[in-house]
Amino acid sequence: MSIALIILAAGKGTRMESDRPKVLHRIAHAPMLWHAMRAGQTLEPARTIVVAGHEAEQVAKAAHDYDPEARVVIQEEQLGTAHAVAQAAPELDGFEGDAIVLYGDTPFISQDTLEAIARARAAHDVVVLGFEAADPGRYGRLVTEGDTLTRIVEFKDATDEERAITICNSGVVSADAQTLMGLVSAVTNDNAAGEYYLPDIVTIARARGLSAGVVHCAEAETLGVNSRAELAGAETAFQQGLRARLMADGVALQAPDTVFFAWDTAIGRDAEIEPNVIFGPGVTVESGARIRGFSHLEGAHVSRGAVVGPFARLRPGAELAEDSHVGNFVEVKNAYLGEGVKANHLTYLGDADIGDGSNIGAGTITCNYDGVFKHRTTIGKGAFIGSDTMLVAPVTVGDGAMTGSGSVITEDVAPGALALGRAKQVTKPGFATRLFDMLRAKKAKQTKG
Ligand code: UD1
Ligand code: CA
Repeated sequence: MSIALIILAAGKGTRMESDRPKVLHRIAHAPMLWHAMRAGQTLEPARTIVVAGHEAEQVAKAAHDYDPEARVVIQEEQLGTAHAVAQAAPELDGFEGDAIVLYGDTPFISQDTLEAIARARAAHDVVVLGFEAADPGRYGRLVTEGDTLTRIVEFKDATDEERAITICNSGVVSADAQTLMGLVSAVTNDNAAGEYYLPDIVTIARARGLSAGVVHCAEAETLGVNSRAELAGAETAFQQGLRARLMADGVALQAPDTVFFAWDTAIGRDAEIEPNVIFGPGVTVESGARIRGFSHLEGAHVSRGAVVGPFARLRPGAELAEDSHVGNFVEVKNAYLGEGVKANHLTYLGDADIGDGSNIGAGTITCNYDGVFKHRTTIGKGAFIGSDTMLVAPVTVGDGAMTGSGSVITEDVAPGALALGRAKQVTKPGFATRLFDMLRAKKAKQTKG
């Protein structure tokens, strides 16, 4: 069965108090819209249609960044959820299969729930996702008779008796795509809010002799975001969920609550993550690697057996091969560290390639930027870079070469060579003693006077 996703993302999100459209606010470094699109991906949809409206250009760009094939339709005026769904009609022309309506601001619907909805379609023409609300508040209520859904009533239009119902409408619905388009086009705005309500399709479907049913999910899955506080709550929920999932997959987290992941963080079994580690987007950590405390990683790949931190920073393009070590106060950006490379202390490695087994001394800096252009540093295998070496790129240090501590290396170093780029030492016997005596005498005279 082919499935089309319709993701509603036209709303402004007034309560966010923001210039940014609501669905572009981020959870774990990804716009909420991406979370909703990713949730829908588990159904392997044949089409994804995003309904944009408020700041439609930005929303369309974000949708295409996630899925270049996504079809974006514009709802010029936000006249209600049924009106929003109806905008998808041109993109469903000739489509055979089911449609499911998801929401850009409801990012956490699970795969199990989506699959249950797809299965329930065998029994009902229209399937609505409902949940038992701890506080039903202003949610729409599901009016049921046995396992049949008879109608959905919006809070504003509900009687006291209907308001007492605790099974609420999540807003997620599924039906045959053409049936759904027929139903939404029949919805009117004759209600308390003067809006075209998507939930009204249940009544219309039943009048047409179609059946409607409910699938239930946990309230946490239907968590919607309307304010900054709810966004922070969604972030917490996401982090807790991902921590639990990673641990279930065999990742060691010593203090899970202190580790923050990005939406796409991937970590292998038996990797160890110490407390207070922060992951930005685009990080993969292979099995058995160890990320020590207070490290910050973003756009980086850490191979098996590598050790990072404590207090390390891996920036985009950091590629650490097996058994490499990046220690405290080391920053790596757009650089490849070969197998067993060690850069253990106080170092900046940017735009560099470092061959297997090389040792990078404390305080080494790749001077990669001339104020206008970036340049690369290449270090061969088994090289030894002395402490406090400045590698002025572009520059190459050959296999098995050495640089003396404190060197400023501006010219290529041949394989096996030792390069010294520092002033020759001058030693003056007894000079320090005489200097001290003179200075102390001067101070004594000043204190007396
Ligand atoms: C809706 C449901 C309600 C349900 C609740 C669950 C309707 C009429 N009511 O109410 O039964 O309990 O969700 O959260 O559907 N949107 C558009 N275009 C529009 C209108 C809305 O894209 O013209 C989008 C909004 O951006 C939002 C979503 O649809 O993401 C829901 O709309 P909203 O107005 O928030 O509906 P609720 O009042 O929450
Ligand atoms: Ca809402």
